[in-house]
Parts: sequence; C-alpha cells; structure tokens
Amino acid sequence: MCPHIDRLGGIAYDVCQKRGSMTSVEVRLRPESISEFEEMIALYALDGVEIVNPNDPIYDDPHWNEEERPIKPAGEPHALLYGAVEVIQSVLSDLTHLMVSWKEVETEEVDWMKKWAEGFTGIAVGETLFIHPPWVAPADNKRNVTLLPGMAFGTGSHETTRLSAAALEKWIKQGDRVIDVGSGSGVLSLCAAVLGAGSVLAIENDPKTFSNAQENLSLNSFGGMIRLTEGDLLLGVEEPADMIVANILPPILIQMAPQTLSVLPVEGRIILSGILNERVAEVLQAYQEHYKLLEETSMNEWSALVLERVV
Ligand SMILES: C[S@@+](CC[C@H](N)C(=O)[O-])C[C@H]1O[C@@H](n2cnc3c(N)ncnc32)[C@H](O)[C@@H]1O
Repeated sequence: MCPHIDRLGGIAYDVCQKRGSMTSVEVRLRPESISEFEEMIALYALDGVEIVNPNDPIYDDPHWNEEERPIKPAGEPHALLYGAVEVIQSVLSDLTHLMVSWKEVETEEVDWMKKWAEGFTGIAVGETLFIHPPWVAPADNKRNVTLLPGMAFGTGSHETTRLSAAALEKWIKQGDRVIDVGSGSGVLSLCAAVLGAGSVLAIENDPKTFSNAQENLSLNSFGGMIRLTEGDLLLGVEEPADMIVANILPPILIQMAPQTLSVLPVEGRIILSGILNERVAEVLQAYQEHYKLLEETSMNEWSALVLERVV
C-alpha cells in the first residue's frame, strides 16, 4: 500500500505500483548547463524528474502575489530522476557533460508524492487563470483549473506551460475547436476548456500520462468536453481545428509543421511553446511559408510563438 494514499485523500498514484526494476538518482548539475539538461531530459522516458535550481529567476519575479510566490530552495542546482534502470543508465552516459556528479539514492528516500504535493500550491497564469491542486481552494474571480501533480508533465509551473496558457487566454475565440498536441497532464486542454473552447481534442503519444490526465479531466466540471486520445502529433487527425497548442521540443514542432496544414484552415491560429530562446528562428522558418507571426513571448530562457495561417 502506498504510504501517501491516505494523506492525499485516497487518490491512488501510478508511482505506488512502480517498484522493482526502477531506480532513483540525484544528479548535481553544472549551473551553466541547466537549460540544456532541462531540454534534453524531456527526451527520455523517465517516470519522475524534478529539477531544483535555486538560481531560477522565477523565485524573484516581481509579478508574484506574496502568498503564491514559490519558496526558493536551498543548496546547489540538482535533479532527482526516477525511472527504469536502463533509462537512467542512458541518461547518465549521454548527459555526463552536463553534470558535476551523480549518486544513486534509495527509491524509497525519494518521496515523489510528498515533493510534488508540497511543491505545488497553485499558480496564477495570465490575467485570469489559476491552476491549483485539489487540496488548495480555488481562487475568487479566477478561471480555476484543478490539477493533480502526477507522472505527466504539466502542473502549470513550468515556463513553457505558463507561456502556452497565457497565449491561449489571449488568442482563443469563444467556441474554438482546439487541439492540444502533447497534452501530458491535460493542463492546456483544461485551460482551453475553461477559457471557452467549443471542443478540445488532447493528443498524447505516451500512454503513461493517461491515468494522470484522466484524473485531471474528472476533477474539473468542464473536463468532460475534452477527448483524450493516443496519437503521434497530428497524424491521422481528420477533424478541423481553429486553434492548435503544442508545448513540445523544437525538432518535434518542426516535424509537425506540414501536418498542421490538413487540420488548420486559413485564419486558424497555432501556439508553439517549449522553445529555448536561441531556437526560435529555426522553428519560425519551418512555419513561415504558410503562417504569419502574431506574437512572440518569452519567460527566462523559454519562448512561445503564436502564428496565424495565411495561405
Ligand atoms: C513538455 S510536455 C507538455 C505537457 C503539457 N501540454 C504542458 O504544456 O504542460 C510535452 C508532451 O508532449 C508529448 N509528446 C512528445 N512527442 C509527441 C508526439 N510525437 N505526439 C504526441 N505527443 C508527444 C510528451 O509525451 C509530453 O507529454
């Protein structure tokens, strides 16, 4: 029995089933390599990743309300990784150049549920959105999204998710048919729904995210309008959309560019996020033949683009 089930209100998490051939490591990171590590680590099929960077400017951002400001962690930049032994081994051999050192830690010592639960107290995004876990009350006068931190990426705290959600808030039109590519926890699908989308199709290629995403849909009264489906980007999608949102990595966004043409008509909008600032130009280039740039936003080292189809 997972020790956290009772404390978190009887919600069973995947992690409680995953012992055996799994392992956990703590990696000390080179401060100058944190962005690169963050980008690269998303390419591995890990079951848990927590990057702790006390130097992250997010902690000093003047836009926080004091009660929502995240607590600055102490110590050196490091990451905790949890996953299958062979996946962890690949990370350690491929990304050695980004690390100062690493050590194995007892899986039981890495209390993932406790870390996530404690670290996630709710986050205000854009002008009107508030993303909060079930144990934090919704905010007054906000569009609230309830989200359970789990194995899937996307609690709303990462810059790439925040940029995407803020762009959705600004550019969505009431009744839009939205496709969320790489839906992870379902956070952006839920934001689209609460912001007034007419329909939302959430596409994800990693089935390990589904239980967390399903749970998140069921926690929100408007979650029932979201259709969660397994798929590889937009391949095989036949229904048209008014807006696409995709928070993935540049090579995948570039691969998706030609696929968008069979889904998004002229005047359709697309939000692309997950782009390190220095890679904006190569993503734009892949879309420039059919799209014009409506907006480029950035937060720390991450950028997001909003494009409109013109031909
Ligand atoms: C950075 S996470 C974004 C999660 C969430 N949308 C957010 O913004 O917080 C990217 C997600 O895209 C998924 N993904 C990666 N490649 C994909 C592909 N080819 N087709 C569908 N989903 C993909 C990953 O599994 C992951 O859940």
